Amino acid sequence: ARVVVLASGTGTLLRSLLEAASSSNYPANIVAVGVDRTCAATEHADAAGVPRFKVALREHAGRAEWDVALTKAVDRHDPDLVVTAGFMKILGPTFLSTFGGRIINTHPALLPSFPGAHGVPDALAYGVKLTGATVHLVDSGVDTGPILAQEGVAVLPDDDEASLHERIKVVERRLLAEVVAAVAVRGVISDGRKAEIPSE
Ligand code: GRF
Repeated sequence: ARVVVLASGTGTLLRSLLEAASSSNYPANIVAVGVDRTCAATEHADAAGVPRFKVALREHAGRAEWDVALTKAVDRHDPDLVVTAGFMKILGPTFLSTFGGRIINTHPALLPSFPGAHGVPDALAYGVKLTGATVHLVDSGVDTGPILAQEGVAVLPDDDEASLHERIKVVERRLLAEVVAAVAVRGVISDGRKAEIPSE
């Protein structure tokens, strides 16, 4: 399956997916990397020899124009799946109508708890003993799409945001690679709130 990955940050999730996809028996290959800003993620794409593109919101008249430009830039690579890995933008209606049902996101908390851009500090501040990672299909909400996989990560007494987030990212990297491979091979069935990857 052809996969386009969108990122905005350090790109460690992208890097781990590039590593997984570099093995010949991995059922998906990353055909392009898209970013919305200059960030470290593009270095991982270059290191892997994967084409990359940037569609920055501030380079467009507004959000609607950015939405259309991003959709075209991704569609040019004819993806079967789009993965948002630390992509810090809400995808627009044009993007969602073009790729809806085929967009996989990873979030560093056990949705529906702690959605949004601060899931790790929110969980820490709340005082939960268990948080974790969620891989889900993207819908028009923020971190609200049907859940594909979750795994718990214990919060340790001396955790700060960085230590907890790093431990969650370790789980996200593995979970994301597993889900992308499973969806690449078996597809996904989603109706309304629920999503299932057909069993082998
Ligand atoms: C990940 O925890 C992702 O779930 C969240 O931001 C982090 C991205 O990490 N949205 P990286 O940029 O891949 O290192």
